[in-house]
Amino acid sequence: MESSNPKTHFYEKELDIRHVIEESDLQNLDQALNICDLSSLERKLRLWQKLMPKIKPHYAVKCNDNPVVVKFLADLGIGFDCASKNELKLVLGFGVSPERIIFAHPCRPVSHLKFAKKQKVLNGTVDNEYEIYKLHKHYPNSNLIVRFKSEAKKALCPLGDKYGCDAAADGAALMLLAKALKLKVTGTSFHVGSGCSEVEAFDRAIEKAENIFRAGEFIGHDMNLLDIGGGFPGIDDNMFGKMAEAVNSSVQLRFPDERVQIIAEPGRFFVGAAYTLICKVHAKREVRSKDGKLDQLMYYLNDGIFGAFAGLFYYPEPVTPQLYLDEAENMPKFRSVIWGPSCDALDKISGDLFLPNLNPGDLLGFRNMGAYAMPIASPFNGFDVPETRFYRAK
Ligand SMILES: Cc1ncc(COP(=O)(O)O)c(C=O)c1O
Repeated sequence: MESSNPKTHFYEKELDIRHVIEESDLQNLDQALNICDLSSLERKLRLWQKLMPKIKPHYAVKCNDNPVVVKFLADLGIGFDCASKNELKLVLGFGVSPERIIFAHPCRPVSHLKFAKKQKVLNGTVDNEYEIYKLHKHYPNSNLIVRFKSEAKKALCPLGDKYGCDAAADGAALMLLAKALKLKVTGTSFHVGSGCSEVEAFDRAIEKAENIFRAGEFIGHDMNLLDIGGGFPGIDDNMFGKMAEAVNSSVQLRFPDERVQIIAEPGRFFVGAAYTLICKVHAKREVRSKDGKLDQLMYYLNDGIFGAFAGLFYYPEPVTPQLYLDEAENMPKFRSVIWGPSCDALDKISGDLFLPNLNPGDLLGFRNMGAYAMPIASPFNGFDVPETRFYRAK
């Protein structure tokens, strides 16, 4: 486990990546370097509170479980979405009270449920009858939040194939079963898909949530929690503004009762933009056609898709490197491929780039690398995952 207390470096107004690079002696480091701007997390929270003041964010720890990041967010006072015993331990270890946590995994191992029970983490999601029976046996006094499926038409990572009941067909039946077993359903949740880019998806889902609430109240449950999940963008604040507007008006229309607590489980929103990854070219190759013409240049970096680019397996988005070369703009560009360091040919970061002629030792920066990267990274083939350094504004 990484330390929750490494040195934090301070900057004046804006984090100057070039300056960090100069300070960091990267030529003598084999590992790539993650630069985490903690102040970016704070700015994101302020933006959230400004645009969706009624929705309490519960950071989805799975997105980036670095203890420094989690502690920083815990100290800002927000809530957490944990999916496992270890995530619960991490968050509780920073003094977060169990009421600030939702155990938002609809299929949980018994040992994890027992841990949640011991720690009095009451709120947890459920989406099928087997899990309801499991809760009846192992954690009957918990609060059941019924998770239903409601997918965006466009999302980088849809989740509906795996989790969520059919709100109309199964929602009421699950709540009836819970009632018959004397369990408490206290709310409902959904996730429109991670990396959602369909603003309307939220209203569609909140409308279904309203129906679940009505059915739950009719059955006799005290429904008081609406959880609108994650799916908010990490980088595009304009898109976030549109989503916030859609959520606010939907909630105002469908959940006007102030007694209903409304929470969300943003992951990517908080951490996506906070990280810049600096990689070093450690090898290169020229690929020529039969007549000897240069076809493309290949570069091998000290990190790849088994490392901090692991998210590309799941969320294949184009990556564009920043170059830290003087005059890079004016240099001739060549068709280029960038590979990760492992022997595996799957370890390709990007195949469609036009870059200047780089050399071993040159550095490439990749912005917005904070989400779904380091928790998945492994030292495959013996190549170390990047080190992370933390910065914040004075
Ligand atoms: C249950 C749950 N909540 C929250 C999240 C975080 O989603 P995002 O990073 O899109 O905000 C996820 C991501 O997969 C999830 O599965």
